[in-house]
Amino acid sequence: MRLILNIRYLGGIDESSRRWAAGVDMQRFEVLENAWLFIEEGLIADYGSMHGNSWQNYVNRPGVRIMDAEGGSVFPAFCDSHTHLVYAGSREKEYVDKIHGLSYEEIFRRGGGILNSARRLHESTEDQLFEEALPRLEEIRTYGTGAVEIKSGYGLTTDDELKMLRVIRRLKEVSPLTVRATFLGAHAVPLEYKGRQGEYVDLVINEMIPRVAEEGLADFIDVFCDQGFFTPDETARILEAGAKYGLRPKLHANELGYSGGIQVGVKYNALSVDHLEYTGDDEIRTLKGSETMPTILPGAAFFLNMIHAPARKMIEAGLPVAFASDFNPGSSPSGNMQLVLSMACIQYRLVPEEAFNAVTLNTAYAMGLEDYLGTITRGKQANIILTHPIPSVEFMPYAYGSNKVRMTLLAGN
Ligand code: NIG
Ligand code: FE
Repeated sequence: MRLILNIRYLGGIDESSRRWAAGVDMQRFEVLENAWLFIEEGLIADYGSMHGNSWQNYVNRPGVRIMDAEGGSVFPAFCDSHTHLVYAGSREKEYVDKIHGLSYEEIFRRGGGILNSARRLHESTEDQLFEEALPRLEEIRTYGTGAVEIKSGYGLTTDDELKMLRVIRRLKEVSPLTVRATFLGAHAVPLEYKGRQGEYVDLVINEMIPRVAEEGLADFIDVFCDQGFFTPDETARILEAGAKYGLRPKLHANELGYSGGIQVGVKYNALSVDHLEYTGDDEIRTLKGSETMPTILPGAAFFLNMIHAPARKMIEAGLPVAFASDFNPGSSPSGNMQLVLSMACIQYRLVPEEAFNAVTLNTAYAMGLEDYLGTITRGKQANIILTHPIPSVEFMPYAYGSNKVRMTLLAGN
C-alpha cells in the first residue's frame, strides 16, 4: 500500500474504458492538479485532489507507505510497443557509412544491416545476449518505460531465432517491466538463401513457426513487409501460418515504399502496423474502421533521415496513432520514450495531449495490454512515472534531451 501526496499534475486519468484514443479524442488527456494517488496490491486503487480531505481516509491504513511527490508529477509509465532490444554488439560503422551517403538498403545489399547483427548474434551465447539486453531494460525504465515489446529477427535460422526468443523469455521472467515477445523470423533473407527467398519463407512457415509455438515463446508474429524485403503475398502466407497457432500480427510496413504492408496487415487483423512513412489516402482508408493500431517510429525516421509518416493527416481522418521507439542497433539505437514524446510533437505536430496518449494508451493497445496499462484508471496496474518538479504538463515534451523522470514505479514498486 502506498499513498503519494502533493502530486503537481496527475495526468492521463481515464475512467471511460476506451481501448485507444483516436481522432479528436486523442486530445483528451485528463489532468488533475495538486493530487494524491493511492496504490493497493500493485493496482491504482484511488486518486483525488489534495483540496478537501479525501486522502485522509488512506493515511492511517495499517502498513501504508506515504510518499511525498514534492511537486513532481505523475503520469502513466510509457508503453514501448516496438523494439528489437535483444542484439549483439553495435553498428556505428554503418552509421558513419550513412553519413557518407549510403542508404539503409545499400548497406543491407552489401551484407550489412540486419545481416551484420545476425552474424554477431550467431556468435553470442544465450547468456551473453541476456547480459547485454538486461541493462537496456534497466536503462529504459530510468526514462519511464514500464512495458516493452521485444522482437526476434536477428537469428534468421531456426536455432538462432529460438535462442533470441528464449532470451526474451528470460527477460520476461526476471524483469519488473511487462515484456511481450514477437517472432520476426521474416526480418530479412539470410545470404545463404539469396535468390531462394521462397525457400526461406517456407522455412519460416514449416519449421520456425511450429517450433516457436510449441515452446510458447511468442505472443505476436511480425514480418518486414516492404520494398526489397518480403512481399505482401509472402507476408500473407506467413501470417496465415501464424494464425493457426493463435499468433496475432504486428507488422513492419510502408517504411521504404507503398509496399502493400498496411493492406495485408489490416486484412489479417494485425494488432499494429508500424513505421508507415509511405501512407497515402488508400492506406488511411484501409485503416479506418479496423482494429489495427497505426504506429509511428520517429527514432528510425530521424536516424535514417527519412520522410515523416503523415501523423496529422491520420489523426484528422479519425485514426488513432501510437508512437514507439524501435530501439535497435541499426536504425534507432535509443529506447528513450521521452525523446519519442518530444519528436511526436516537434516533427509530427502532435499536441502534447495527443503525444501522451500516443506513447501510453495507444501503445498499450498495440501490445494487447490496454486493460491493464496505459492510463491512470482505478483497477489498472500501478505502472507510473514520478517526475522531478516540472512547471507544466507540456514541459515533458518541450524540454527534450533531459531526463525528467525521478522514478518509474512498476506495480506500485
Ligand atoms: O524496425 N525496418 C526493419 N527493421 C528494423 C531495423 C533493424 C536493423 O536495422 O537492425 C527497424 O527499423
Ligand atoms: Fe523495427
